[in-house]
Amino acid sequence: MVDQQIRDLIKKEEERQQNLVHLIPSENFASDEVRMALGSCLTNKYAEGYPGRRYYQGNEFVDQIENLAIERGKKVLGVEHLNVQPYSGSPANSAVQMALLEQGDKICGLKLSAGGHLTHGHPKITFSGKFFESVQYDVEEDGRIDYDKLEELILAEKPKMIMAGTTAYPYILDFKRFGEIADKVGAWLVADISHIAGLVVGGVHPSPNEYVHIVTSTTHKSLRGPRGAVIGVTKKGLEKDPELAKKIDKAVFPGLQGGPHENQIAALAVAFGECDTQEFKDYAAQIVKNAKALAESLRKNGLKVFGTENHLMVVEVGFEKGKDAAVKLEENGIVVNANTIPHDTASPFRPSGIRIGTPAMTTRGWKEKEFEELGNKIAGIIKSI
Ligand SMILES: Cc1ncc(COP(=O)(O)O)c(C=O)c1O
Repeated sequence: MVDQQIRDLIKKEEERQQNLVHLIPSENFASDEVRMALGSCLTNKYAEGYPGRRYYQGNEFVDQIENLAIERGKKVLGVEHLNVQPYSGSPANSAVQMALLEQGDKICGLKLSAGGHLTHGHPKITFSGKFFESVQYDVEEDGRIDYDKLEELILAEKPKMIMAGTTAYPYILDFKRFGEIADKVGAWLVADISHIAGLVVGGVHPSPNEYVHIVTSTTHKSLRGPRGAVIGVTKKGLEKDPELAKKIDKAVFPGLQGGPHENQIAALAVAFGECDTQEFKDYAAQIVKNAKALAESLRKNGLKVFGTENHLMVVEVGFEKGKDAAVKLEENGIVVNANTIPHDTASPFRPSGIRIGTPAMTTRGWKEKEFEELGNKIAGIIKSI
């Protein structure tokens, strides 16, 4: 049966993706090879368990695929152990927390309004905020983390786990300092590199591996793979607890998930293969160059820009005008998202800024010149609201 209704909608979405300028920092365009694996017959197969230890028959080829994803991922991410089964970033972080914390233990992450993620202990409404006691750190007026203040907080609160990772932070993260601080209180340190994974793999953001116990990451943002996530265990992690890899695997399955999505894992193997090329390194370097060019152009046009040292920036557009700016930009073919600015006093539904990222259009081949011109256009639209 041909489902024309869905086909038509997919076609329209495809045109939307092709025709607009995409600047949501967490979005990208996966390759045809990645999408081929995602749409393959692997979606038909159940494979509960891990390679060589499955609960169902018929996993001869699936095992080979998952092992390839693990080996390629370990190589490009530089970790000792890698679980490639998390369905997405949120379940990956939940699995890590489930593996290493008891209900009521203390967890510490960056505030959502400061560019942190919901799964890093956002109070009351999230799994990590409901089941654990959450303390959160903030950024300063300039949008940066003050590591001395963070250290004071950690020494006073002594959390059992610290989440070092961000969704809207335009600066390089000092994983070394995070590591020194976590070690002072014996806390587990988790680097959630979801946003910057492509930059880390491409060598344009320092790797956290030497300083943290665990690395989590989504695979669909700057990494440019399928939607999904991974959990890596570092040498430092295994030194802290030789059973760490087993604990993580058990938390993913059977702790939190059932059958892994092997089509997604095959696509991830393809993406990791693509990461291991000079072309990917060039792409990662270009993302950062493009972000700098865009930030500079916006500044020249009089806008206040937080950042950038990575793939994204936060732009102040006026009190409560973030949503209006995002809507107006979309009307002009430019897709961004409304975002809080550091210490925003406006509500999160009507924040005072927008978040802009360069990975997707870098994949499309854009360079500094295009981003400079885009900056002029964006500034003109923002000034008109
Ligand atoms: C830092 C970080 N961690 C985790 C996630 C969650 O990923 P997902 O949306 O795949 O659950 C995100 C998504 O934006 C993120 O930015």
